[in-house]
This record gives sequence, C-alpha cells and structure tokens, in this order.
Amino acid sequence: MEEKIIDENRQGEILMLDQPVRPVTYKPGRKLLIESYGCQMNFSDSEIVASIMANEGFTTTRDPEEADLVLLNTCAVRDNAEQKIRTRLDYIRSVKKRKPEMVIGVLGCMAERLREKLIEEERLVDLVVGPDAYRDLPNLIEQVDNGQKAVNVLLSREETYAEITPVRLNSNGVTAFISIMRGCDNMCTFCVVPFTRGRERSRDPKSIVKEATGLFAQGYREVTLLGQNVDSYKWNITGKGEIIDATQPSVNFAQLLEKVAQINPALRVRFSTSHPKDMSDEVLETMVRYDNICKYIHLPVQSGNSAVLTRMNRGYSREWYLERIASIRRIMPDCAISSDIISGFCGETEEEHEDTLSLLRKVKYDMAYMFMYSERPKTLAERKYEDDVSPEVKNRRLKEVIDVQMQSATERTKVHVGKTQQVLIEGISKKSKDHYYGRNSQNIVVVFPKGNAQPGDYADVLLTSCTAVTLIGEVVKIYTRENYSIL
Ligand code: SAH
Ligand code: SF4
Ligand code: F3S
Repeated sequence: MEEKIIDENRQGEILMLDQPVRPVTYKPGRKLLIESYGCQMNFSDSEIVASIMANEGFTTTRDPEEADLVLLNTCAVRDNAEQKIRTRLDYIRSVKKRKPEMVIGVLGCMAERLREKLIEEERLVDLVVGPDAYRDLPNLIEQVDNGQKAVNVLLSREETYAEITPVRLNSNGVTAFISIMRGCDNMCTFCVVPFTRGRERSRDPKSIVKEATGLFAQGYREVTLLGQNVDSYKWNITGKGEIIDATQPSVNFAQLLEKVAQINPALRVRFSTSHPKDMSDEVLETMVRYDNICKYIHLPVQSGNSAVLTRMNRGYSREWYLERIASIRRIMPDCAISSDIISGFCGETEEEHEDTLSLLRKVKYDMAYMFMYSERPKTLAERKYEDDVSPEVKNRRLKEVIDVQMQSATERTKVHVGKTQQVLIEGISKKSKDHYYGRNSQNIVVVFPKGNAQPGDYADVLLTSCTAVTLIGEVVKIYTRENYSIL
C-alpha cells in the first residue's frame, strides 16, 4: 500500500498530505539510452522500462555520449551472451570516465544472476535491477543521484506490468511484441531462465486485448504474444484446472489467441514460444479458424534423442515430439515450424547426436536457432551432470546440425516460389532503398519493388525466386491501411 501512495505522488494524481512527498531531484530533460540483449521478452521489457522512465521526464537517445542514464537490459542464457554484454559495458564505462555524472545500470537476467557482484566487480556500475523490479527504478535512480549504489533483484509472483503502456522503441510502426506472461516453471536442467525470471505468472487477458486494440488503432498491423511457454498461459484457473473465481471467465492460451485474433481481421497475430509438452490441438484448431493468426510455430526440440531429453527434463520424448509435428502437419499443412537445438549437452554420445540429425532430416524445419551447450551456474545440469563433451566435439556437432538445417531451410523456402502470398509490408529493404521487405504468414522475409505501397499495407506478392532464406517477388495487388475491408 505504501508503495502505491509513493507511486501516486510521483505521478501527481493524488497527493496524500500526511505522506512525505518525494523531492524532485531530476534535472529536466534527462536522456536515457536503453540497450536490449537476449530474447524478445527482454526487448519487450525495455519498452516497459522506457515507459516508466518517460513518466520521470526521461527521453530516449541512441548515443552513449549524449546519455545521462545508460541501462543495459541483459541476457544470461549462455556464457557468450554475458561476454558480449561485458564488452559493451567496458565501452560504456570508458565513456563514463569522461563524464562521471553519467549513471550506468544493469537490468534483466544478468542483473538477477549476478546481483551485488556486478557492483562489487564492475565498480562503475551504479544500479542493478532484476526483471520484476522495474517499477522501483525511479526510487533506485534517486538513491544513485544521492550518491549511493542501488540494487533491487526481488522476484515477484504477481508482477506482470499489466497496466503499463510500453513506449515502443526502435519501432517500425507495423509490428509489436506483447508480453502475455512472465517467468517459467519448467526447470529444464540446462536453463538459467527460471532462476533469472522467477515463477510463471499470466497477465490479465483484458489488459492484453486492450494493448493489442490500442496498437491496431495506432496503425500497427501485427502483434506477437510472448511467453517462455505460451501454452501454459492461464487466467483464473489453477495448474490443476480448477476455476479460481466462479463469477469470472477463465482463459487458456487458445482462448486468448482467439480474443486477440477477433480484434480485427487486418491485425496479424503471432506467438512464441510453444512448448512441445503443452502445445494442444485446441491451439492448432484455433489457428486454422483465423486467417490472421499466422501459420508459424516455434516449437524448440533441443535434442532428437529421448535419453538426452530426459536428462534435459524437457517432459517429452522424441516420439511425443514427432507426434506433435504430425498433428501440426495434419491440421495445418501450410504451417511453418522452427526449432532450437543444443549440441553437446552433458553426456551426449555420437549416437544421440545422430538422432538429432535424423530428427532434423525428418521434420525439415523452416528455421532453427542452434547452440553449443553452455553450462550455467546453479542450473540442475551444473549440479547433477558433468559438462563432458569437449569444445571441439561440441563445435563439430553444431556444424553438422547447421549443415543439415541449412539444407532443410533452402528446400522449405523454395516451396513458396511460384505462389502468390499475402505479405505485411514492414519497411524498406536493408539492401535496396527501392525495395520493401515484409513477411508472409510463415514468417519468411519477402523482398519486392516498392511500387506505390506503404509500410503497414498488405500486398499480394507473386513469389518469383528465392535465396536460402528470403523470397523475392513482385506486387500483384495492394490493400492499403484505409481499404482493409476487401481483405
Ligand atoms: N522457453 C523457451 C526457450 C528459452 S531460451 C523454450 O523452452 O523453448 C532459448 C533457447 O536457448 C533454448 O530453447 C535453448 O535452445 C537455448 N539455451 C538455453 N539454455 C542454454 C544453455 N545453457 N546452453 C545452450 N543453449 C541454451
Ligand atoms: Fe528454460 Fe525450459 Fe523454461 Fe524454456 S521452458 S525458459 S528452456 S526452463
Ligand atoms: Fe536471456 Fe533472460 Fe531471455 S536469460 S533468453 S534474456 S529470459
């Protein structure tokens, strides 16, 4: 309650005279540089942080030289992710040496993992804030302004930042992310996320629909619903399926997807990440019913071998996974599927690795993210298993995985050539200012001459050729933002 009163004072809405009013120490017009690393959820969180800081009078900049406050929103998923951030931090610190009044903060998963250590080791870091503590940023920054270092890494069972309207950063004005849940309860043995993001919790569906509706009204035409395991989204329902408040409707992921799809047929809906153990046919059937739910599923397998999957505590076998793939193909033959693969997990034998290659050949993913296993402190794998595959073997196996996957991707991209498909135009192609790029429903990038279309328009594009992962085409018909009724 106390926190709420402080909050209200800050926004000047209600002044409780018996409460001390926080002195305003900010210089007006301070500039914030916020950089995001890691998964889409982190990018989405940075937009919440930007919103909280905008309330405090900060505007954003991309130039460290110009920034009064630099926040790095960090990832801890693999060691090389952390190394990259440390290199960037070194650079930011070199800027601070020249302008000591600059405040440097580390946010996100590395902040949560390393906590005070970041201040002790990296003496020029002023602020360490975990993913559930962003509402506290104004207080923490005030502490720093008063000459102290500040840390808040408390994780929460409730925080979803539901009512905070994100400030869209680096936006193309067409596509946006919406976080629908936070945390993860799965405890895959290799993964640091449950430790850095805390327990799983879902966000109020009303606030999700409101945010998506608002984005559509502002001209956005695609939203991606984000969660570490979207299939376990649940509102007003316990993990055992019991309704919490009988006077309120309960909502599962398939129902949430439907609510968002119903906002407008011209608003595309995507989602990520699906978990093979939880992805239901109800979700697949909902996808079929709505043309505006994109036909693309990210369904990370991690390994093609059941014994490895057991050691990873993924909760499914190779056979279960292949059955889920068969269901997708049966219910939605035109659906694209992508995956994540880890090479060289603890105890992975040559035969087990071969099973991953054979699964890749069988499924033929449209796209995959592929990684070498990186041991993470505190995870179950670190405590229970030995990281016993040598870096050379991990590297060689990863190369083999990438080779097989590249063949599949090339094959899968070619399937679209000769067809006319609807593309949402996102912006000007990086390679040519005379071309636009957008995506088809299957999430493949399509490049074509601009003509007189605009970003945010839909175009029917005849796909004439392709590279390994990009389709090239020409516009057959444009559906402008004003003329969606003909869609
Ligand atoms: N929630 C998602 C994944 C989030 S992390 C899911 O369950 O699929 C994104 C990916 O990073 C994972 O799918 C995994 O492939 C990879 N990853 C996670 N921890 C890793 C580690 N310790 N070493 C290598 N890759 C890892
Ligand atoms: Fe990590 Fe597993 Fe949770 Fe994904 S589902 S975030 S891999 S623990
Ligand atoms: Fe990285 Fe945290 Fe996302 S560890 S992958 S930023 S949840």
